[in-house]
Amino acid sequence: MIVILTGAGISQESGIATFRDSGGLWENESIEDVATPGGFARNPARVLDFYNQRRKQLLSPEIAPNAAHLALARLERESSEPVLVVTQNVDNLHECAGTSNLLHMHGELLKARCTACRGVSQWEVDMSKSDACPKCGTTGKLRPHIVWFEEMPLYMDEIEQALESCRLFVSIGTSGNVYPAAGFVRSARSAGAQTLELNLEKSVGASAFHDGRYGKASEIVPDWVDEVLSRQ
Ligand code: OAD
Repeated sequence: MIVILTGAGISQESGIATFRDSGGLWENESIEDVATPGGFARNPARVLDFYNQRRKQLLSPEIAPNAAHLALARLERESSEPVLVVTQNVDNLHECAGTSNLLHMHGELLKARCTACRGVSQWEVDMSKSDACPKCGTTGKLRPHIVWFEEMPLYMDEIEQALESCRLFVSIGTSGNVYPAAGFVRSARSAGAQTLELNLEKSVGASAFHDGRYGKASEIVPDWVDEVLSRQ
């Protein structure tokens, strides 16, 4: 099995800002204010507005999957061994490109979660404190289906199982600052997998990988996929 971890760098050329590069989202917004449960409790309107803006941007016509997303979808379609994409991204560009074996470990921008019934619903419009949950009808209990700092990422059991049994682990477009995702390379490596980093530049965890290739995702990911498929 090939396990691929993706981060904001894979969507950068689709027009979605990364978090920690210059001009990134965390340059102008405080993580404490917009990406923690405490920030939401203190000022829900501000947090909802932050995600409303990001949702609106994601749904604007100029945002589309790029060659890197399309190459990973092709890999899943044509590979003789199973491929799992684990993404830290909350955009929907992998699924738009055609990837289906996909886990959104940090949640999804186009979904809402109800803290009353825990139901998760598709949500493509602005969210406000007075909205009712489509599942249980309770008002005032919806939040973005986003994993905030201090919260547990989703699908950790499936991800850990996949890391233990994969032949190859590839990390694409992530700076390696946020755990547990930043530790996946060590889990995969200690379980015997080959490990490869594909990124614009060396990430903070680059030395944990057997190998690294550096450049724009839209160029290095399709080249790598061509190589994998031609070797099978
Ligand atoms: P970061 O913004 O931390 O890192 C993005 C990485 O992508 C950097 O290492 C860049 O060098 C690289 N990069 C930028 N443009 C690229 C391109 N065109 N091609 C290839 N690589 C490129 O984003 P993440 O590592 O994804 O969590 O951040 C991890 C988590 O931190 C996010 O999921 C988010 C954030 O706080 C939550 O919101 C819960």
